[in-house]
Amino acid sequence: MKNILVTGGAGFIGSNFINNILEKRDDYFIVNLDKLTYAGNLDNLRQSENNKNYTFIKGDIANSELVNFIFEKYKIKYVVNFAAESHVDRSISGSQIFYTTNVIGTNVLLETAMKFKIEKFLQISTDEVYGSLGAEGLFTESTPLSPNSPYSSSKAAADMMAMAFYHTYGLPVVITRCSNNYGPYQFPEKLIPLMVINSLSNKKLPVYGDGLNVRDWIYVIDHNEAAELVLEKGKIGEVYNVGASNEMSNIEIIKLILRHLGKSEDLIQYVKDRLGHDRRYAIDSTKIQSELGWKPKYSFEQAIEKTIDWYVKDKVWWEKIISGEYLKYYANQYKM
Ligand code: NAD
Ligand code: TYD
Repeated sequence: MKNILVTGGAGFIGSNFINNILEKRDDYFIVNLDKLTYAGNLDNLRQSENNKNYTFIKGDIANSELVNFIFEKYKIKYVVNFAAESHVDRSISGSQIFYTTNVIGTNVLLETAMKFKIEKFLQISTDEVYGSLGAEGLFTESTPLSPNSPYSSSKAAADMMAMAFYHTYGLPVVITRCSNNYGPYQFPEKLIPLMVINSLSNKKLPVYGDGLNVRDWIYVIDHNEAAELVLEKGKIGEVYNVGASNEMSNIEIIKLILRHLGKSEDLIQYVKDRLGHDRRYAIDSTKIQSELGWKPKYSFEQAIEKTIDWYVKDKVWWEKIISGEYLKYYANQYKM
């Protein structure tokens, strides 16, 4: 049995990771440590909550005493650190919690992992640490870190700290840097679920700036299978970029969603641009493909339709969210 601590497992990517692993294997015992911030939702884990190889603990990764207790009690040998404040717009409105969770919290996990001599520490990072691209080129693992938002700077700090623990103490760290994910259970503040839900509710779709910023989209299961592979086979001290080579401008995605739902483009509303808005992200994932044999399984065309249909079908999931915190937050931003 591999005892693995998954942090942030009640969020979008972490919950998909846990559900996917528990569905297909029985050699992992997963302890999910999640603070249940506005983005954490135990409804995401309904299919896993009664699994004998799973337990949930509500708590903060920055709580050293609790993290020590968990490592000791569950004899943790592997860590996958998904826990983070993850939304760029929120980091622009208030950056402090981003550094507390993403930097200090990661530091607590690294220190504890060292103390308990774990076998592998997977830091889930993002392509946003590389900054922004012009019209040409791709991010490779050797692209210099040049983060532009408080969010991406906190993730870059965590990456550097994780690598410092590898170089200084020999802690077995690996890092994945993935591009923009889409799929079920994504909190409806991020582009795709926000646009789907606003379309379904006949609300305006706020497009930042000229709508021509480009993101490189990957289905969440493809990201998680890459993470699982890196956890098992990734070389310690290495970084692996993860992406599905699927660049799209924001306006293209929004129009695709409207077409799929049979809604009018009149819902589109251009709004003031995001401060410091990165223009383009695009990932070169040659390394993980050639060294570890990973490749994405889902085509964008199929997986985006499957994703949109999931939000149509699972209305109860997002209605619960938008009736609470979500609405209060966005009321201030004139989005709803
Ligand atoms: P999310 O915001 O949906 O989920 C984050 C989870 O972390 C939530 O369940 C939240 O409750 C939990 N959390 C926050 N602070 C915590 C703390 N102090 N202690 C314990 N738990 C805490 O985020 P996501 O989109 O699932 O992203 C997960 C990870 O993947 C993040 O590290 C993010 O940087 C990275 N990432 C995300 C994307 C993307 O497109 N969403 C792309 C690449 C990398
Ligand atoms: P987002 O989902 O916040 O991811 P990230 O900023 O981490 O890439 O945004 C994706 C893109 O969509 C980004 O260029 C900003 C843009 N965007 C909008 O145009 N309108 C919106 O309401 C949101 C949330 C994002």
